[in-house]
Amino acid sequence: MENIVFYFSGTGNCLKVAKTIIKELGNGEIVSMAKPGKYTLIKQYDTIGFVYPTYFWGLPKKVIEFIEDLDLNNNKNTYYYSITTYGGSAGNAVYQLYELLLNRHGVKVNLGKKLQMFSNYVVIYDMSERVDEITKKSNEELVPIIDSIKMRKKNSINKLTKIFNFINKNFIKKAADMDKDFTVNDNCTGCGICTEVCPVKNIEMINNKPQYNHHCEQCVACIQYCPQKAINYKNATQNRRRYTNPEINYKELSEYNK
Ligand SMILES: Cc1cc2nc3c(=O)[nH]c(=O)nc-3n(C[C@H](O)[C@H](O)[C@H](O)COP(=O)(O)O)c2cc1C
Ligand code: SF4
Ligand code: SF4
Repeated sequence: MENIVFYFSGTGNCLKVAKTIIKELGNGEIVSMAKPGKYTLIKQYDTIGFVYPTYFWGLPKKVIEFIEDLDLNNNKNTYYYSITTYGGSAGNAVYQLYELLLNRHGVKVNLGKKLQMFSNYVVIYDMSERVDEITKKSNEELVPIIDSIKMRKKNSINKLTKIFNFINKNFIKKAADMDKDFTVNDNCTGCGICTEVCPVKNIEMINNKPQYNHHCEQCVACIQYCPQKAINYKNATQNRRRYTNPEINYKELSEYNK
């Protein structure tokens, strides 16, 4: 029994889900979809999962690129599942991955699920105070999803309105350069945590200050994990709370993302 979970995570929700799945299924590995270059599966797996956040009602750019380049090798008849974590509305995020795997690799996702978790996009709203309550609920809702994976359940995955795809495409076009609007204030101590948590290594420390290199995914890990709240988006986020998954600290996220 070999299991693999591919994940993409900015603030730890998807990493937490990926870790829980592997703990429950046993005998498996977790691989970041933010890794550069093409990924080739070298073993035969019993289950292959994808865990990723919903970004603008669809897939993060990095997830699309990773799956486009993925070499599934001899894993065409494996059990495939996907879980998108989302804050309020998952739009077409489950369907987009289903369609991508089918069109690119001729593989059907057997089970496609959405899991509501804490909504982390601090750039456009002040986030909820109810971290404990939301975390408890999402942990509970993950249990039957993992049971379904264990039982190799299948579901039908439906496409929703095209408007979701349109909005997602528009976001993907702009995401890489949106870091031009990130600012770093004088509270920065030069600790380098932002560079460590960035899943796509978009931040370099120059003269002890982070500098952005414009291949951003907008995952907001740098804003959220900065211990000084020194990173902001325009003038929008200065007075907003910060969030990271309570079970995933920056060290663990950085280790998994390596
Ligand atoms: C750029 C961006 C866009 C997002 N768009 C959506 C969205 O369209 N719908 C939604 O419900 N949540 C949205 N969210 C919230 C995340 O999907 C959610 O918080 C997710 O669990 C974060 O996972 P992570 O902690 O693994 O990064 C968005 C978050 C970010 C950073
Ligand atoms: S995490 Fe914050 S304090 Fe640390 S280097 Fe980055 S901006 Fe500066
Ligand atoms: S620069 Fe910040 S928001 Fe952009 S991908 Fe890296 S951690 Fe995420």
